[in-house]
Amino acid sequence: MAVTTSIHGMWSSRLAFILAATGSAVGLGNVWRFPYTTGEYGGGAFVLVYLLCVAGIGIPIMMAEVMLGRRGRQSPINTMRMLAKAEGRHPAWQLLGWMGIVAGFLILSFYSVVAGWTLAYVFRAAGGAFTGASAESIAAQFGTFIGDPERLLAWHTIFMVMCVLVVARGVASGLERSVRVLMPALFVLLFILVAYSATNGYFAQALEYMFRPDFSKLGTAGVLSAMGQAFFSLSLGMGAIMIYGSYLSSQASIGRNVVIIAGMDTLVAILAGLAIFPIVFASGLTPQLGSGMVFKVLPIAFGQMAFGQVFGTLFFVLLVFAAWTSAISLLEPVVAWLVENRGFSRVRASVLAGIAAWLLGILSLLSLNVWSGVTVFGLGFMDLFEFVAANVLLPLGGLLIAVFAGWVLSRAASTDELDTGRKAYAIWRFLVRYLAPVAVAVVLASAVGLLKALGLE
Ligand code: PFF
Repeated sequence: MAVTTSIHGMWSSRLAFILAATGSAVGLGNVWRFPYTTGEYGGGAFVLVYLLCVAGIGIPIMMAEVMLGRRGRQSPINTMRMLAKAEGRHPAWQLLGWMGIVAGFLILSFYSVVAGWTLAYVFRAAGGAFTGASAESIAAQFGTFIGDPERLLAWHTIFMVMCVLVVARGVASGLERSVRVLMPALFVLLFILVAYSATNGYFAQALEYMFRPDFSKLGTAGVLSAMGQAFFSLSLGMGAIMIYGSYLSSQASIGRNVVIIAGMDTLVAILAGLAIFPIVFASGLTPQLGSGMVFKVLPIAFGQMAFGQVFGTLFFVLLVFAAWTSAISLLEPVVAWLVENRGFSRVRASVLAGIAAWLLGILSLLSLNVWSGVTVFGLGFMDLFEFVAANVLLPLGGLLIAVFAGWVLSRAASTDELDTGRKAYAIWRFLVRYLAPVAVAVVLASAVGLLKALGLE
């Protein structure tokens, strides 16, 4: 019989879980990372592969992750150990949880730096820094900003403190209330921005760019990135969704909730793309703007539109909140583990984990300026952490979760958790046993082949 509650607290309702998981999924991944990686790999083909990965790999793995979390009701490490034991399997399955902790630290470290940029841009927008500014001067502003390590450090520190404060109190309190108001507000604002871009930007060109696949620009690296982006955006493969599932009541329907969460996450990413690309083309820029894209493009619009100062400020405030509710979920699995296994108080565990991620973040931050020449495998620290976490660790974690849910966990256990109809269950089981693991394995393997071919290994 499965455990019915977690020692770390429980969501007050099904809605609270949906809000928290959507809060985790929707973040910088949708608004900052999706548009710039789409631009890097030429648009439509990347978007198509990303959408296929969300539907065919992401949704079934998210269901598996929530299910395992709810069955284990502990930190991902202990959940995996317990579930493996219950099925008479090797305790080494807990390594999945450890891999998730590593991925979580890597992601949180650079995530907090980028969230810091967003915080800084709240004040720039409010101060009217973009009013009437040209695309060049806005790009130059961004360049000067990320070239200043002390400034970046200050904002990175403030953001990390914000995260530690929430996690120290326990994720259930406060999170629900803020996501309930702020997530719809972000949606509304994105719609307003899309409407602005549709009337003032090159909308038709943007639609064609985003939705007409041109596979010549994709390649193996693009497929790997699109798959990595699906995992990153849905918060999958590292235990964040697993731990949120562990606070979910046994009655809630996993399948329905997961489809809603993944749907909202994907919608936000597409809206962000539809807001950004029309302005990219109208301003004579190319889509290969790199990781500064949102900060170089949307300010152009805020500088020109009516009430741009208000909309700009509001937009960056909401993006900070979206980043905040995601970063919290990156910290939660390790904090739960420190509480369970080390007997730490929540406060002590959160502070310690926060300091570790903060220190790691300094490497990312310096790679943008003083250490820009320092590279590992040709990448600076920030790009390296992003690549390793999103394109390697998360897909690998997801692959193992799929294998565990599909092959190791007994059929009785998964039918018990997923009380969807028989047909939906059969589809889920097929995806999680065959399609998801094989697809992830093939993409990862061809990426390794690609590295070999490039002589990088
Ligand atoms: N899904 C978040 C985003 O799109 O911004 C980032 C993220 C959160 C990734 C939590 C992974 C994770 F476990």
